[in-house]
Amino acid sequence: MTIGRRQSRLLVALALCLGLSLWSLPLPSLAAFNSAFPRRAALGALGALGTAPAAAGPTAPRPPLKPPAPASGTISGGVLPLTIGLGTCLVSEGDVTRQVSSALDVGYRVIDTAQRYGNEAGIGLALKAAFEKGLSRDEVFVTTKVWPSNYGFDKAISSVQDSAKKLGLEAIDLVLPHWPGVSTDFEAAETNFQLRQQTWKALERMKKDGLVKQIGVSNYNDRHLTELLDYAETLPMASQFEIHPFNTRESLVQKCKELGIRVNAYSPLGGKGNPNQVTDKLLSLQLLQDIGAAHGKTPAQLAQDMQQTILRWHLQRGVTPIPKASSAQRLQENFDVFDFKLSDEEMQEISELDRRRFAVMNSEVFL
Ligand SMILES: NC(=O)c1ccc[n+]([C@@H]2O[C@H](COP(=O)([O-])OP(=O)(O)OC[C@H]3O[C@@H](n4cnc5c(N)ncnc54)[C@H](OP(=O)(O)O)[C@@H]3O)[C@@H](O)[C@H]2O)c1
Repeated sequence: MTIGRRQSRLLVALALCLGLSLWSLPLPSLAAFNSAFPRRAALGALGALGTAPAAAGPTAPRPPLKPPAPASGTISGGVLPLTIGLGTCLVSEGDVTRQVSSALDVGYRVIDTAQRYGNEAGIGLALKAAFEKGLSRDEVFVTTKVWPSNYGFDKAISSVQDSAKKLGLEAIDLVLPHWPGVSTDFEAAETNFQLRQQTWKALERMKKDGLVKQIGVSNYNDRHLTELLDYAETLPMASQFEIHPFNTRESLVQKCKELGIRVNAYSPLGGKGNPNQVTDKLLSLQLLQDIGAAHGKTPAQLAQDMQQTILRWHLQRGVTPIPKASSAQRLQENFDVFDFKLSDEEMQEISELDRRRFAVMNSEVFL
């Protein structure tokens, strides 16, 4: 059984249904919404906590950026670096070449795509141009994913060969099965299990053969991960799943860390662009505004400071976020997070925003 158009439509419908609970109720006023969450008493409280740099305040300039060490040098073939990566979901083949080229110019070295995004060839063009300009292959880390309709041992191998060709890479840095099954029907449980196992065996084979440098999983919950430990000869190097302050996934993050699996956050800013996105709600939170402003440059850049606060929270949890952004300005803003540090208390305050809210879909529905 494979994911065809009908199942795809069902998945989208399911994703829509999953978000129909609280967020679809009439919106409360901003003040009422904010009163449901912790907030700081006043701007500038960070100074009192002793966490902001001495000269920092809402209008103080930040020190110049230092190039982030993990995003330079040889990263291909290693573990997923702890840095800001680039998301490319919903970026068309036509736009993605320009987006990835701009991101590489800014300093991004981790690029996330998937067969399903239909833009691997466009990313291949951007990489080719960058290599011709002198970027070393060793300095870039490219992730792609196998779509469920290509699950199974032979199909997975030929589809990853196709991805490598489109990307123009002899070996892909990281390949993940995109979802833990082909159908969310109860009856599909055994099929899902068989395909998860066969696809993992194919990934292990491709790693041995050198077509793939590292293998990992995407949208695997605790249950899928525990099951995989039974049949895997090679442990996943990385696990990609939805994480943002409204869905911190603390226990899964901890489980991955205990197993030595790098955590890769998708929809790290709340997944704007997805039907159940929570980005707008996150960015209306007084707590994030206060923390962002206390670490920021000018009040006029408040929205930017809030995005950066969220991305910094991911990094300080040891999680690699892959925000998607379209403009060169946003690509730069999202990468500009290596010159400030959130305090332990701020980290905790942001983590307490957790409401287990999915912008995309809870993959627990894949049996
Ligand atoms: N494994 C999976 O199943 C899975 C699922 C979902 C996503 N992903 C991956 O994760 C990546 C990121 O997730 P996502 O795209 O769902 O959500 P996201 O990165 O949380 O949010 C992307 C949205 O935020 C906006 N944005 C980005 N930077 C901004 C800034 N500085 N200021 C204001 N707005 C900003 C973007 O707008 P513009 O684009 O208009 O700039 C876009 O609408 C995807 O692109 C994909 O690579 C994987």
